[in-house]
Amino acid sequence: MFSHYYDKDRIASLVGEDNHRGVIGGLWEEVGVMQFALLRQHGLRPDHRLLDIGCGSLRGGVHFVPFLDAGNYWGTDLNQSLLDAGYEKEILPQDWAERLPKAQLVEDAEFDLPGVTGKFDFVLAQSLFTHLPLNHLRLCLEKVQAAVRAGGKFLFTYFEIPADAAYSLPFKHKVGGVTTFAHKDPYHYKVADLEFATKGTDWLLEEAGPWGHPRAQNCAVLRKVGSA
Ligand SMILES: C[S@@+](CC[C@H](N)C(=O)[O-])C[C@H]1O[C@@H](n2cnc3c(N)ncnc32)[C@H](O)[C@@H]1O
Repeated sequence: MFSHYYDKDRIASLVGEDNHRGVIGGLWEEVGVMQFALLRQHGLRPDHRLLDIGCGSLRGGVHFVPFLDAGNYWGTDLNQSLLDAGYEKEILPQDWAERLPKAQLVEDAEFDLPGVTGKFDFVLAQSLFTHLPLNHLRLCLEKVQAAVRAGGKFLFTYFEIPADAAYSLPFKHKVGGVTTFAHKDPYHYKVADLEFATKGTDWLLEEAGPWGHPRAQNCAVLRKVGSA
């Protein structure tokens, strides 16, 4: 297993205990508002289409769905139980079913985007690659690029270690105190790893650095430079 999120039965059981907000890491309000503010800073408008990969129980979705024009939010996740709980407990009580048809929350663990249609202006993966190894980042970048319009942006968070740190050693981050690893969850990367992951793709790494995350996750900003 790459991370504890792959134990789908355990995740479903925790979600069943009315813990859908806690299972995706807690800090529901703080990290939800942060990711919305981040995309707004990067130019997200209501008429844009957003793909939220590893969207979980919609911690970000509850901010994006009322802001975006109806039908412009799509989310994918490895765990159907999180998508279901997010929809039933966060979307339906707000009467947002017309803004977010259930079919736009898609179970997908390998970035194949089954049933996802149209081109996106933004892709977000908040606290996804912190739970996945570098090869998954490469896989995702290569597969998802076809679903993004030229000039579109992909923002994802990651744990960064310094260029001169030993990749193979555990690294304790000062802010938040999280210890990360090369080979197990939570995973760390160097900026050079991000550059490597974009090689041979239509993605250009434009920025990589802190964005005020309480657990020291950094944010990478990629722009699609290839043809539409
Ligand atoms: C820390 S949670 C973050 C959820 C959401 N992005 C947020 O900020 O609330 C990580 C999410 O990634 C999902 N996940 C893990 N591996 C995945 C994969 N290979 N493909 C899609 N989703 C994955 C988990 O099921 C979980 O919902």
